[in-house]
Amino acid sequence: MKAHRGERLKVLIPRTRIARRVREIGRQITQEFRGEAVLLVGVLKGACIFLADLSREIALDASFDFLSAGSYGHAAETSGQVRLLKDLDSSIEGRNVILVEDILDTGVTLNYLARLLRERHPRALRVAALLDKTDRRTQPFEADYVGFRIPNHFVVGYGLDYAERYRNLRDVCVVQLDSGRKKRGKK
Ligand code: IMP
Ligand code: MG
Repeated sequence: MKAHRGERLKVLIPRTRIARRVREIGRQITQEFRGEAVLLVGVLKGACIFLADLSREIALDASFDFLSAGSYGHAAETSGQVRLLKDLDSSIEGRNVILVEDILDTGVTLNYLARLLRERHPRALRVAALLDKTDRRTQPFEADYVGFRIPNHFVVGYGLDYAERYRNLRDVCVVQLDSGRKKRGKK
C-alpha cells in the first residue's frame, strides 16, 4: 500500500511472523480452556483483525462480542480518563472472557476495561494484546497473552490506524513523517 503524502511506512513485523505468533497464542488459549467455551471481546476498532485471525486459531466453542472505548479530550496523548463508547451486547457473568486489544501502550485503556469487565463477574478474564509498548506504561498492566513487545514507535497496520488509515495493511509498520520527525502516540 502507498503511504499517504508526507508519511513513510517501514515494516516492523512482517505478516508471516504475525501469523506464526497468532497461531501460538491460539494454541495456548485452546489448551488453557480445553473443553470450555470462550467469549472473545474485541476492543473496536483496532482489535478486529487480530480477533478475526486469533479466533480461527482457537479450537474451542467461541463467541464474539465487541466494545469501544475512547479517551476524553482531543490531546494526542491519552488523557488518563477513559469512557465506554459502546458496551457489550450480552452478559459475561460466569463466562470465560478473553479481552482482545491491538496494543497496550500507557495501560490506561486496559486498566479501565479490565476493571469494568471484572465487576461483571466473568468465570475467567484474560487479556490478549497483539503489541505491547512496555516503556510507555503510566499505569501498571500486564496482558496474559502478548504477541510482540515493541519499542516506542507509532505503529499502524493489522488493525492499527493513524487518523483512521492503514488498518488494512498486512504487516505492522512504523509511520514516519517525511521530515524525519518522530510521530507521537496519537490517539
Ligand atoms: P493506552 O490506553 O495508552 O494503553 O492506549 C491504548 C490505545 O491507544 C490502543 O488501543 C490504540 O488505539 C492506541 N495506540 C497506542 N499506541 C498506538 C500506536 O502505536 N499505533 C496506533 N494506535 C496506538
Ligand atoms: Mg485501540
